[in-house]
Formats: sequence, C-alpha cells, structure tokens
Amino acid sequence: MSTAYSSMQHFPSMLLICFLFLFSKIKSDELQMLLNLKTSLKNSNTTVFDSWDSNKPICEFTGITCNSDKSVKEIELSKQNLVGVLPLDSICQLQSLDKLSLGYNFLHGTITNHLNNCTKLQYLDLGNNFFTGPFPDISSLSQLQHLYLNQSGFNGSFPWKSLQNMIGLVTLSVGDNLFNRGPFPNEVVKLTKLNWLYMTSCSIEGTIPEEIGNLIELSNLELSSNYLSGEIPSQIVKLRNLWQLELFNNTLTGKLPLYSNKLSGEIPAEFGEFKKLVNVSLYQNELTGPLPQKLGSWTNFDFIDVSENHLTGPIPPDMCKKGTMTRLLVLQNNLTGEIPAGYANCSTLLRFRVSKNRLSGKVPAGIWGLPKANIIDIEMNQFEGPVTSDIGNAKALGQLSLGNNRLSGELPEEISKATSLVTIQLNDNLFSGKIPVSIGELKLLSSLHLENNKFSGSIPDSLGSCYSLTDMNMASNSLSGEIPFTLGNLPSLNSLNLSENEISGPIPGSMSSLRLSLLDLSHNRLSGPIPQSLSIEAYHGSFTGNPGLCSRTISFFQRCYPKSGVSKEVRTLILCFAVGSMILLAALACFFHLKKREKYRDRSLKEESWDLKSFHVLTFTEDEILDAIKQENLIGKVIAGTHGYIAPEYGYTYKVNEKSDVYSFGVVLMELVSGKRAIEPEFGDNKDIVDWISSKLKTKESVLSILDSGIPESFEEEAVRVLRIAILCTARLPAMRPAMRSVVQMLEDAEPCKLASSAIGKDGVFNKGREGLGSEKCSPDQ
Ligand SMILES: *[C@@H]1O[C@H](CO)[C@@H](O)[C@H](O)[C@H]1NC(C)=O
Ligand SMILES: *[C@@H]1O[C@H](CO)[C@@H](O)[C@H](O)[C@H]1NC(C)=O
Ligand SMILES: *[C@@H]1O[C@H](CO)[C@@H](O)[C@H](O)[C@H]1NC(C)=O
Ligand SMILES: *[C@@H]1O[C@H](CO)[C@@H](O)[C@H](O)[C@H]1NC(C)=O
Ligand SMILES: *[C@@H]1O[C@H](CO)[C@@H](O)[C@H](O)[C@H]1NC(C)=O
Ligand SMILES: *[C@@H]1O[C@H](CO)[C@@H](O)[C@H](O)[C@H]1NC(C)=O
Ligand SMILES: *[C@@H]1O[C@H](CO)[C@@H](O)[C@H](O)[C@H]1NC(C)=O
Ligand SMILES: *[C@@H]1O[C@H](CO)[C@@H](O)[C@H](O)[C@H]1NC(C)=O
Ligand SMILES: *[C@@H]1O[C@H](CO)[C@@H](O)[C@H](O)[C@H]1NC(C)=O
Repeated sequence: MSTAYSSMQHFPSMLLICFLFLFSKIKSDELQMLLNLKTSLKNSNTTVFDSWDSNKPICEFTGITCNSDKSVKEIELSKQNLVGVLPLDSICQLQSLDKLSLGYNFLHGTITNHLNNCTKLQYLDLGNNFFTGPFPDISSLSQLQHLYLNQSGFNGSFPWKSLQNMIGLVTLSVGDNLFNRGPFPNEVVKLTKLNWLYMTSCSIEGTIPEEIGNLIELSNLELSSNYLSGEIPSQIVKLRNLWQLELFNNTLTGKLPLYSNKLSGEIPAEFGEFKKLVNVSLYQNELTGPLPQKLGSWTNFDFIDVSENHLTGPIPPDMCKKGTMTRLLVLQNNLTGEIPAGYANCSTLLRFRVSKNRLSGKVPAGIWGLPKANIIDIEMNQFEGPVTSDIGNAKALGQLSLGNNRLSGELPEEISKATSLVTIQLNDNLFSGKIPVSIGELKLLSSLHLENNKFSGSIPDSLGSCYSLTDMNMASNSLSGEIPFTLGNLPSLNSLNLSENEISGPIPGSMSSLRLSLLDLSHNRLSGPIPQSLSIEAYHGSFTGNPGLCSRTISFFQRCYPKSGVSKEVRTLILCFAVGSMILLAALACFFHLKKREKYRDRSLKEESWDLKSFHVLTFTEDEILDAIKQENLIGKVIAGTHGYIAPEYGYTYKVNEKSDVYSFGVVLMELVSGKRAIEPEFGDNKDIVDWISSKLKTKESVLSILDSGIPESFEEEAVRVLRIAILCTARLPAMRPAMRSVVQMLEDAEPCKLASSAIGKDGVFNKGREGLGSEKCSPDQ
C-alpha cells in the first residue's frame, strides 16, 4: 500500500521530469536543426552565424525569433550573402516555424518536397537566389500569406494548383523565372485577398481573365514580358486600389482604361518605351513625378490625357514626332519648363490644353496658328511674350484661353481671321495697345475677357457687329474714349463690365435695350444722364465712381436737368417727328399692314417675328428708322419709344414682356399725335405724357387741344383714332393693355395709310422713303 501510495505520491513530479526531458529534447532538436543549417551554409561570407553557438539559447541567435514557448518561429536571413543548399528536411522540422525569409542570397540546388512539412509557414521568401529545377507542389502550406519566389532560377511547370488552398494569400511574387509556357492560372484570380501580384516574365500566354477584376485589393499588378494577347479586360477598372499596373512587352490590344482611379506613385519610365502606345488616359489620379520624356515618340501617337494629377517636370517633347497627334491634355499638374518647339508644327492637333501648371517661356509662334485646333488653353501658367500674327491661321479655333499669365504686346489684328472664335480670354496678363478694330469680324464671338491688362485707346465701334457677344469684360485697363453706341445692338449681351478705365462721355441710350444681368461701368469718367431703364436702384453700384453722371431716379447721383444730355440723334428725331410725324405714323401702320400680308405670303416667316418684345432702343437716327422699317427684325426699334420710355412695372422689375412694349408703343403714339415729348416740364413734377393726356381728358378739354398743332385739319379724325389706341396701350394695369397684334389691327382700321400713300412705293418698301420724309428737313443740326 505504502509503495503504491509513495509511487502515487511521486507521480506528478515524475510527469514533470518526463515533460522537462521531452521539452529539452525538442529544444536540443531545434538547436540541432539550426546548427545543421549553419553547416550547410558554411561557405557563406557572413558574420550572421557568429552568434549561433551551441552554448547559447537558440532564441538569441541572430536572425532567429522564438515564440513564448521558446520555440523557433521566424528565420530572417535575407541579404546575408548565404551560399549553399538549403537543408529543408531539417528546417521544416521546426514545429513552430511561420516565417522563412531567405531572399537575396546565393542559395542553389533544388527546392525539395520537404518544404511541405513547413505547414505553419505564413511567410516564405526564397526570391532572388540561384535555385534550379522546378518548384515543388506546396499544397500543404495553406497558411501562407506572403510568397516570394521571384527571380530565383526556377524552371519547369509552376505548381499553380498548390495556390488553391492558400485563401489568405496577400503577396504572390513569382515573376522572372523560366517557367514553362502556360495559360493565365485561374487559381490566381480566386485569391481575393491578393494585394501584390508580380507575374512579370513567367511565360504566361493567352488572355488575361476578366476575373482579374475580382482582385479588388490589388495595389500592384505586374504582368509585363509575358506572351499575353487579346484585350485588356475592362474589369480592370474595378481595381480601385491599384497604384501600379505594368503590362508592357506583351501583345495586348485595346486601350488602357485607367483614368479616374486613385493611381499614385510615378508613371513608370517603361511607359516611355512602349513602342506601340498611341493613347494615354491617366487623368484624375494621384500620379507624381515626371512624364517619361520619350513618351509617344515611337509610333503614330494620338492623344495623351494626364490632367488632374501631381506630375512635375517638362512636357515630353516628341509626342507629335510622327505628325499624328490630336490631343495634348495635361491640365492641372505641376509641369514646368517651356512648350517644346515640336508642337508648333503639330498641324493635326485639335486640342492643346496645358492650363494650370507652372509652365513658362514664350509660346512657340506656330502654336497660335495650329490650323485644326479648336481649343488653345494655356491659362494659369507663367508664359510670357506676345500672341503672334500666326493666330490668323487658326481657322478652327473656338476657344482661346490665355488668362493669368505674363503675356504682353498688342493683340494682332489677324485675330479677326480666326473666324471660329467663340471665347477669347486674355484676362490678367500684360497685353497693351489698342483693341484691334478688326475684332468686329468675329461673328461667333460670345465671350470676350480682356480685364486686368494694359489695353489703351478706345473700345472699337466694330464690337457692335459681334452679334453673338453675351459676355464682355474689359475692366481694369486704360481704355479711353466713349462707350460705342453700337453696343446697344448686341442682342444677347448679358454681362458687361467696363469698370476701372478712363472711359468718358455719355452712357449711350442704346444700352437701354440690353438685358443685362451684370453691368459694371464704375470708376470711369462717364458723364450725363443714366438712361432711364438702367436708372434703377439695382444698378446703383454699376455707375459709382463717375462723378459726372446724373439720374432722375437714383437718389445717390446728382439730379439731371430736364433737357440735359439729349443726344444729337434724339434731337434729329424730334425734329423729324415735328415735321413728318403723321407721315411716319401712317407709314408705320402701313408697314405693319404690309408686313402682315407678307407673313401670309411667306409661310416660313415665324409667328415670333410678330412678337416684338426684344426691342428697346432708346435713340435712333433717320437712317436707322428707314433701315429698321426695311428690316422686319428691327421693327421694334421704331416702336419702342423715342426715349426708351417704359412701362412703370418694367422700371421696377426689369422684366420685359409684350405688355410693357405695348406701353412703350402707346407712349410713342402719344408723342407723335401730340408733338410733345414723353416728359416735359409743363406736365408738372413726376408727371409724364400719359398723366398729362389723361388729366386733359378728365378736364373734358377738347381732345383736339392735345393734338399737335402741325397736324392738318383734314387728318384730325385719324389722329384722334390713333390717340385712342395710344390711351388703350398705356393703361396702368398691364392686363388692360391690348396685345400688339390687336394694336396693329386697330391701327390698320384707323386707316392712316391714306396719309402716307405718297411716301410708300408699290412694293411696300420705302423706296422713296428718304425723299418722302424729306432728308434735308431731317438732317441733324439743321
Ligand atoms: C567578404 O565580405 C567582406 C566584407 O563584406 C569583404 O571585404 C570580402 O571581400 C568578402 N570576401 C569574399 C570572398 O567575398
Ligand atoms: C514530414 O515529417 C514527417 C515526420 O517528421 C516525415 O515522416 C515525413 O517524411 C516528412 N515529409 C516530408 C515530405 O518531408
Ligand atoms: C521579389 O522578391 C523580393 C524578396 O526576395 C521582394 O523584396 C521583392 O519585392 C519582390 N519583387 C517583386 C516585384 O515582387
Ligand atoms: C531546368 O534547367 C536545367 C538547367 O538549369 C535544365 O537541365 C533542365 O532541363 C531544365 N528543366 C526544364 C523543365 O526546362
Ligand atoms: C519581353 O519579354 C520576353 C519574354 O518574357 C523577354 O524575353 C524579353 O527580354 C522582354 N523584353 C523586354 C524589353 O523586357
Ligand atoms: C485612340 O483614341 C482615339 C480617340 O479617342 C480613337 O479614335 C483611337 O481609336 C484610339 N486608338 C486606339 C489604338 O485605341
Ligand atoms: C503643385 O505644387 C505645389 C507646391 O509644391 C502644391 O502646393 C500644389 O498642390 C501642387 N499642385 C498639384 C496640382 O499637384
Ligand atoms: C517644322 O516644320 C518645318 C517645315 O517642315 C521644319 O523646317 C522645322 O524644322 C519644323 N520645326 C520643328 C520644331 O519641328
Ligand atoms: C468687373 O471686373 C472687375 C475686374 O475683373 C472685377 O473686379 C469686378 O468685380 C467686376 N464687376 C462685377 C460687378 O462683377
């Protein structure tokens, strides 16, 4: 019993001794395995094994890391000049080994099947060595996360099947080995955790599977120097984390759909060696560094778009070497240097856009004259020098964007030959001299920005012929002279900024006809009255800094004297009206009558040509009246009122509609019939012709007392009829005013044609108009 008891009593300590023995046996085995490794690599010129001494704990050996059980977990001996054959049979008996890193050494021999006993391995690097023979199947290494076998001398077939089990694989680097040729391994595209795939130069043939797009974690994909063919699968765009893609030295076709990614890093220098590269789209990425300077120089290069990156360095000089390039788009980078001279000859270019960089120097003259370019955009750089007369050759140029540079000199008058121009932006430069008169020949010009330069001289009248102008800014120059009257002719002008110049004289009344959402004439030397329709508080800031201006309605400005500032043209007109008002009126009505007939004759005439709402010309000369009557589209000039006198609601809301035109027309009729102007001192304070006539009628004074004394008695009846129409047209409530169409009808019924018959030819045009109106009577200043 006692023996039994004592042996029972000693059982735990025996167990402990037993365990300790086993443990130290394992320890000594691990030591043995490591010493075995050291011996195998004894010819290495390295000091790393100096600490590998049997008297020391293995965990203190250089390159060895142990786990908490003091068992070998990691061997890190890369770049140690190791020479010899790996004793994998002993290494793989290290039960806890999860990292074996032996890259960049001089190891040789074959890699044996024993590797399969390293089942715990998560990290295996045998890359950059001198092994021979095939690489074994390693299906048992299912824990592997990082596998480096690149450039290690392996040949034969690679055991792709082994990868099936390695579902956690993050790094697969097997490139630069002389494997047998074979198709793209399907096992690879199932490794969805892959972040790094290096399969350059490992004899892959055939196409890249679409499923490559499943590897969404990839940051690096290198498949260069294989025998890949066919299209690059479009699924490649799903690789949102990719920062490097190398596919060169294959026979792939199709395009590189790489734009709008988060590609970062530099564009590989190899891009410059792509002998067949014709299109490069890498815009909106985060690429840094320079563009390869040989880029696009080998073949019939077509286009480059690397806009919106962080690229530095110069523009590659030879992309148009073969004379086939169509687009150079490098907007918004940090490129430096000059525009390479070669592009001046690149007559195929459709777009030249280098804006928002740090480019400098003179723009090669030929660039201005690129015959097919629709956009030349060099904005926001540091370019200097002039725009040369070559611009006359730029027949296709629609957009010339040169803003924010240091360009200087005069704008060549040849710019008028670039007749496709829609947008000219020269703002914020050092341009000087006169604005060429020839600019008026640009009939498509819609936007003209010359602000913040040193232009001098006057604004050319010819701008009034740029009928497409919508937006014009000449602010902050040294322009002088008067605002051209012709600007009022611009039917779509929407924004006009002439501030901060030395412009003098009156604001032409013609400007009342413009529908401007922005008007800035501030800080000039303008004088005289602010035209009625512009004289509203909303425009108050538009005129500041012009001490000579006056206004009837904006209290900020001095008050105008009633007769001040009446232009020559208005005086002429009043003179004409006084003499021939009834004739004109009659002519007008006849004209409407004839026009209407013409309308029925000519079905192509649009209904809208009767909608006269877009005309509010303030003043006009006799010639213009005649022209206007001849040109159906300008009828409104005549009917819109001698002073651009406008309906009350128009003044406040600045909204124009037919009803306000009818009002203006009514005022003209009143002026014609009464021989008075819209505003006369005799009407009293704040009273106009409409008030005056209605007060006359209220007091039951004879209607005849309103009529112009120059009207012959025989025509008084017609004149009264016209006056009635005028009163209807000027009803206070817009809704009460008749439509223009009915006004015309009413005028026809009033039969003023009788009056004018002598002045109108049979064909309905004023072919004798000048004589009819009496040109000598109406000439100015008579
Ligand atoms: C061994 O390495 C040392 C220092 O790195 C070097 O000076 C020596 O030339 C090398 N010897 C051989 C044989 O490579
Ligand atoms: C793996 O190790 C076991 C026991 O240690 C051994 O019997 C077997 O031969 C080894 N297998 C290989 C492929 O080395
Ligand atoms: C090749 O393998 C080495 C380790 O041997 C590794 O550091 C390197 O990143 C690998 N190269 C590529 C391109 O994967
Ligand atoms: C692998 O290369 C060795 C020489 O380095 C050669 O003897 C052997 O035939 C090659 N094997 C294959 C499958 O190409
Ligand atoms: C192109 O790939 C082939 C096949 O891998 C290789 O032999 C050749 O050296 C590569 N050429 C370049 C320039 O990389
Ligand atoms: C290059 O891009 C142009 C314009 O998008 C296209 O017409 C041409 O076909 C492309 N060339 C190739 C080889 O894809
Ligand atoms: C250009 O460089 C400047 C300063 O180095 C930097 O602030 C800016 O963001 C860069 N622009 C782009 C588009 O990379
Ligand atoms: C442009 O073309 C002309 C005539 O073909 C040639 O003389 C000149 O050297 C070319 N210039 C450049 C910069 O390519
Ligand atoms: C007119 O242009 C000048 C110069 O660019 C600018 O400072 C000013 O704000 C513009 N006026 C308006 C009303 O935008």
